[in-house]
Amino acid sequence: MSSLEIRDLVVSVEGKTILNGIDLAIESGSVHAIMGPNGSGKSTLSLAIMGHPKYKIVRGQVLFDGQNILAMPVDARARAGIFLAFQYPSAIPGVSVANFLRTAINARRVDPTGNGDGQAKKNDMPIPQFRKLLAEKMKLLEVDDSFITRSVNDGFSGGEKKRLEILQMHMFQPRFAILDETDSGLDIDALKVVAEGIEALRSPEVGILLITHYERILKFVHPDFVHVLVDGRIVRTGGPELAAELESKGYDFVREALYAGKA
Ligand SMILES: Nc1ncnc2c1ncn2[C@@H]1O[C@H](COP(=O)(O)OP(=O)(O)O)[C@@H](O)[C@H]1O
Ligand SMILES: [Mg+2]
Repeated sequence: MSSLEIRDLVVSVEGKTILNGIDLAIESGSVHAIMGPNGSGKSTLSLAIMGHPKYKIVRGQVLFDGQNILAMPVDARARAGIFLAFQYPSAIPGVSVANFLRTAINARRVDPTGNGDGQAKKNDMPIPQFRKLLAEKMKLLEVDDSFITRSVNDGFSGGEKKRLEILQMHMFQPRFAILDETDSGLDIDALKVVAEGIEALRSPEVGILLITHYERILKFVHPDFVHVLVDGRIVRTGGPELAAELESKGYDFVREALYAGKA
């Protein structure tokens, strides 16, 4: 069992406060959805958890199994088992998907402390094991063979980029996955594949934070909790019914209730 606990998190970007005190606890085995209008701070939250240098922690803690990860470099966070699927994945021309996945997997398997001697120790995944895992996951996510020889996200369609994020998530086998609008811009078939990919990761050992703008993915991925983020604050928390309420009433309703002091 593991847990990710966010305590009173305040984050600023370029001098502007974006997150205004986020409290959220996610246990492994559960899926939490965060919904919110554009600009509410959803990506800021995901990038701050992962450690993007542009996002300054003004106050608060993010504890992963009780350890404050905000003091850890990004690669240590990844090795601890935290994964982020980006809303806007970057292209890496010249690096094939297969190479990228293998290098990233092996980087996560390095033990930076060695056996106590301070010398980093490699522990590469054997190539046959990598090939088998990749073939399995490509089948699961209905990824075409040609995909893995192409350069990472280079000339990829929006849907292909999102599928690659999900493929990475499956290959890295994280203990905690954050998915930042992995559903945006997908047609219904691609959305179903991505949703099934997310559901397939669900297990008692994995916690999932699903960030989304739209309710439609929640028809395929069933969250245990839904949180509504508005203006850098979680203003409502509920079950799946909250997503349906948002869909019918829109975010203005939450915002109005918030500023009328009712939310
Ligand atoms: N790298 C950045 N540089 C400047 N402003 C940013 C940056 N990232 C986010 N912001 C600002 O922070 C606010 C929240 O953005 P974001 O977290 O991307 O929201 P969401 O993902 O909910 O749409 C917006 O006002 C946005 O302009
Ligand atoms: Mg965003």
